[in-house]
Amino acid sequence: MRKKIVAGNWKMNNDLVATNTLISELLKKEKTSNAEVMIAPTFVNLLEASKLLKDSSIIVAAQNMHFAENGAYTGEISATMLKSVGVNTVILGHSERREYFNEADNLLKLKVDKALEEEMKIIFCFGEKWEDRSVGNHFMVVESQIRNALFHLEDENWESIVLAYEPVWAIGTGQTASPEQAQEMHAFIRNLVKEHYNSAISEEVSILYGGSVKPENAKEIFGKNDVDGGLIGGAALNADNFIAIVNAF
Ligand code: 13P
Repeated sequence: MRKKIVAGNWKMNNDLVATNTLISELLKKEKTSNAEVMIAPTFVNLLEASKLLKDSSIIVAAQNMHFAENGAYTGEISATMLKSVGVNTVILGHSERREYFNEADNLLKLKVDKALEEEMKIIFCFGEKWEDRSVGNHFMVVESQIRNALFHLEDENWESIVLAYEPVWAIGTGQTASPEQAQEMHAFIRNLVKEHYNSAISEEVSILYGGSVKPENAKEIFGKNDVDGGLIGGAALNADNFIAIVNAF
C-alpha cells in the first residue's frame, strides 16, 4: 500500500531559535495518524533539526540541492553535504525555485539524477500557473514537467520518488484547489505513470497535494482516492495547525 505523507516546507522561515521552538512543540503533540511526517527547514538549520529529531519518527528534508558533487558553485549545497548532516530527503522542482531561480526541467533532471545516485529520496514538485489552467493547458503543463524530469528513470528509481502536485495559483493564496480538482489531476498523473511504466509503479507512488492546505480543508482533500498526503507551506509553521493536518488522515 502506498505511503501517506505530510511534509512541511518551511521555505525561508524560522531562524535557529524559532526552529528549536517549533520542533520542540511538534514533539509534544500527539500524533493519531500513521502518516509519515517530514519537515524541511532552511539549510542552516538542518543539522540542528536532525539532532533534535534523531530519536523521533519525523523525517528532516532539504528544500533544494545542487546537482554537482562539489566544486566552484558559490552558495550551493551538495547531496553529500546534506547526507553528512543526516538529511536523506530533498524537495526538488518547487514552483518558487522554478519561478524565482529559473530552475527549468533540464536542470531539475540533473538534480534528480544526482539525488538518486546518492540514494536520497525526492519529493518532486510540479504544477500549473493560473494562466495555464484558465486556457485548459494544466494537464499538458503538468505532463511535460513530469515527463522531462522523471520519465528517463528506471523502474527501481521510483521507490525513491514522491510526487507533489502544487498548482501555483493555490500556493500561499488561500485559494485551495477543490478536492475534485486535486483528485482529477492526481488521477491524471497516476495514469501517466501507469502508461509510461506500469500499474505496479503507478499504484505505489505517493502523490501529495500542496497549495493552501489547512486544518479546515485537509480532511476533505486527503479523503480523495489519489491524494496520498500534503506538502504544507504556511500552515506548517504552526505546530497545532501542522499536527491537525497530519491527524486529518
Ligand atoms: P502554502 O501551504 O503556504 O500554500 O504553500 C504550499 C507550498 O508551496 C508547499 O511547498
